[in-house]
Amino acid sequence: MCFSDREQEAGKLLGLYRRGAAVPILVYGPEGSGKSTLLRYIVWRVDRDGGLGVYIDALSGGDLEEAIYPLTSAMRSILADLLAGTAPPLGRVLAVRLWDLLRGLLMRAEAERRRVLVVVDDVYRALGLEEAEAYTKRLYELLGRLYGLGVESALVVVATSEGASRRLLARHSYASTSLLWNLAREGLGELLSQIEAPIGAEEAWRITGGNPRLLGRLAELEWSPGRLVEELAEQRLAEALEAVGREALEKLAEDPDSEPNAARRLEDMNLMIRLSRVASLSPPPEPDRELGVGRDWAWQTPAYRLAALHLLERR
Ligand SMILES: Nc1ncnc2c1ncn2[C@@H]1O[C@H](COP(=O)(O)OP(=O)(O)OP(=O)(O)O)[C@@H](O)[C@H]1O
Ligand SMILES: [Mg+2]
Repeated sequence: MCFSDREQEAGKLLGLYRRGAAVPILVYGPEGSGKSTLLRYIVWRVDRDGGLGVYIDALSGGDLEEAIYPLTSAMRSILADLLAGTAPPLGRVLAVRLWDLLRGLLMRAEAERRRVLVVVDDVYRALGLEEAEAYTKRLYELLGRLYGLGVESALVVVATSEGASRRLLARHSYASTSLLWNLAREGLGELLSQIEAPIGAEEAWRITGGNPRLLGRLAELEWSPGRLVEELAEQRLAEALEAVGREALEKLAEDPDSEPNAARRLEDMNLMIRLSRVASLSPPPEPDRELGVGRDWAWQTPAYRLAALHLLERR
């Protein structure tokens, strides 16, 4: 699929990168909403404009091309030393040895590379939740060390779709969290026209709510919303029903804010999500029952709510 929209979100992150951030930013949002895609895009922009941009996929296995971007010749030669004798998974190793990598790159970089953007994607899944706080604190310290090396401005971003890591880090002052929501209605329309999808924009919106990965799955299912909802009911919602019970699931399908404790359990299953209305990269979604969006809680995509209703009807 083609990259659509996201100018506002990219603009906010690039603005912060130019001004310099005091603490790492945790970007969280629905699974498949496009976090990794956006973050790779801003690293590409920084690299193109002469800054030092590094993207690490902490979950990546043994392939360097997958684990780090952009793989410049300076990067390759530093990594050859840094990774000598280490065993995969490489993404995890790179996340852990980030400081050595950045210091090496800054030592070699041309004088104008005085601005730094670092993205570590999916790092909490790679390291385990029990490491999330300690690792993020180290990223905070790394920012301080970058400024200590004379870097003019820097931004460190961590991305996660796990509610549990967001909840852990929201307790601390050494990181800030920011929501990346699904594509807006216009962004989804742009994407649909680029791929010449045989589905109306309104229908696609009511099902995917602008989630690009779900749109891809809908395409694979020959654009049949019914098949998508049935599949999700069986694969994702049946277990959710067992976890929270019928009554809570019914209430949450009616009103996402009605059962915070059950919503939190569904957040752990990547079905719902806690919204940030102030700390948000995207315009936060307006409350809309049909789309499964409340004031504080939302279904990650409307399709999950539809699948819950489908399951409740059948059982
Ligand atoms: N702005 C966009 N325009 C078009 N397609 C997009 C956009 N953003 C993401 N996609 C597509 O949507 C899919 C999911 O994107 P991506 O992997 O970036 O999501 P994610 O939020 O990082 O997911 P996860 O939560 O699993 O890490 C990919 O196939 C990607 O190409
Ligand atoms: Mg991702």
